[in-house]
Amino acid sequence: MRIEPLAGCGALIDDVDLTAANDGEIAAVRQAVFDHGVVFLHGQKLGPEAHIAFAKRVGPIVINRYFPKTERFPEIAKVEKTEEQTTNIGGGWHTDHSYDAEPAMGSILVAMETPPAGGDTLFANMYAAYEALSDGLKATLGTLRAVHSAAHVFGAKSAYGAGDQKALSGHSDLPESVHPVIITHPGSGRKALYVNPSFTLRFEGWTAEESKPLLDYLYAHAQRPDFVHRFSWKPGSVAFWDNRATWHLAMNDYHGHRRLMHRITIAGEALS
Ligand code: SIN
Repeated sequence: MRIEPLAGCGALIDDVDLTAANDGEIAAVRQAVFDHGVVFLHGQKLGPEAHIAFAKRVGPIVINRYFPKTERFPEIAKVEKTEEQTTNIGGGWHTDHSYDAEPAMGSILVAMETPPAGGDTLFANMYAAYEALSDGLKATLGTLRAVHSAAHVFGAKSAYGAGDQKALSGHSDLPESVHPVIITHPGSGRKALYVNPSFTLRFEGWTAEESKPLLDYLYAHAQRPDFVHRFSWKPGSVAFWDNRATWHLAMNDYHGHRRLMHRITIAGEALS
């Protein structure tokens, strides 16, 4: 198995078949996710059963409350945009599940159908974003916690409900959670910036208006091109990302074509 670090964010892994990997290879993939934030593999054969089997080898599966499920496998969320739809899923920078008290460790996304061009996913490196901050701002952020919520994304009045991805809106189980703004990653021991452009509402004890200028600064800082890798999918490609160490954004530049991805989310832990 070869692990090749990529500029900006992530690592490319090859010479491994995830359906036949031994325990040492699974442990190495898991550690590479912690260390690089996201790993990419091409040419894998992760049909639904094999996808679930691989996911279970890296950690317990947590079922997303909001995404449509594949017909036969509730563990697998369908990330789909049809030929007719104009709104995609995950089209703004975010990391998954920060509204949960124990945010998901990782997400394993498998490309089932890809458009002829476009539909890439961008990943941003939150270790690098943290490390590039000044010592003064690192110290200030180290004293702060932020409030995250699912309500405005998956609740009754969400943007998804206003568009043509209505299945993701109108939900009522809409948790709010508080996490440190700078976390120590439980798998790598490194510090990472943990705010989320899609789900963070404000700093704890601050109003949304007071929080906005600093959050906007952090959002612009963390998506600097030098922290970002753009991944192009083919059917069979896999991205396994760490939600504590990266953000991602799905490009919506392939109208009139279908893109279907299968996503399994791996359980995480409280962050500190
Ligand atoms: C997601 O945000 O989980 C989906 C990413 C993608 O479809 O590329």
